[in-house]
Amino acid sequence: MRGLIITIDGPSASGKSTVARGVAAALGYRHVDSGALYRAITWQVLEAGVKPDDMVGVTRVLAALTLEWLPGEHAFLFRLAGREPGPEIRSPAVAAAVSAVAAIPAVREWANRAFRQTPEWGGVVMDGRDIGSVVFPEARHKFYLDADPSVRAKRRLGEQTGDGAGAGLDGVLEALKRRDAFDRARREAPLAVPPGARVIDTGALTQAEVVRTVLDGVQTEEARR
Ligand code: C5P
Repeated sequence: MRGLIITIDGPSASGKSTVARGVAAALGYRHVDSGALYRAITWQVLEAGVKPDDMVGVTRVLAALTLEWLPGEHAFLFRLAGREPGPEIRSPAVAAAVSAVAAIPAVREWANRAFRQTPEWGGVVMDGRDIGSVVFPEARHKFYLDADPSVRAKRRLGEQTGDGAGAGLDGVLEALKRRDAFDRARREAPLAVPPGARVIDTGALTQAEVVRTVLDGVQTEEARR
């Protein structure tokens, strides 16, 4: 039976994944972290010695990749090329390369086909950059989380991985702004508020409050139908 689809988009470190996990757990749905798949593909590209903006090389790597979804209790994990990705997909090298790989149309088509399989197992809460606009434009529950870049940089610094790790707050802020600017400016599926999405500024809210806001939004809309 197909459950509901809830989409949560937004820029880096806006709290999307944590909130999506909380919403999925509360509803008995599964969380899909779409960025993790783009990061895992990027890691494979780097391992193959291919430059992230080498469209032909990246497409060749992609053609050899197999993906297996692993539906867990509250989340979808996956095996790419036979292995589950580990902390390496959060490394500064992957963070610096992922936007270029994710801007390649063949990569997006491949990933979108994979994302669209996940509701076959039940309700999903998927977070990313284009989930409400491109992957599931028909979803009736769409959210867009945002916060001031300095707030997001402080959060990312607290995680001590990924963008500008080890570079201090200014380095993290710069790396994060660079990635957001690239994601917003790309021709294919740019980062933007999807039509019909509810925008939530997470700057002054706790994660639990954001989860509550999303759940209230879903319940209000469902009651209206
Ligand atoms: O969400 P996360 O920061 O892990 O995403 C890593 C990168 O993957 C983003 O900066 C973006 O370039 C790409 N991405 C994307 N579309 C998505 C999710 C992530 O292009 N739906």
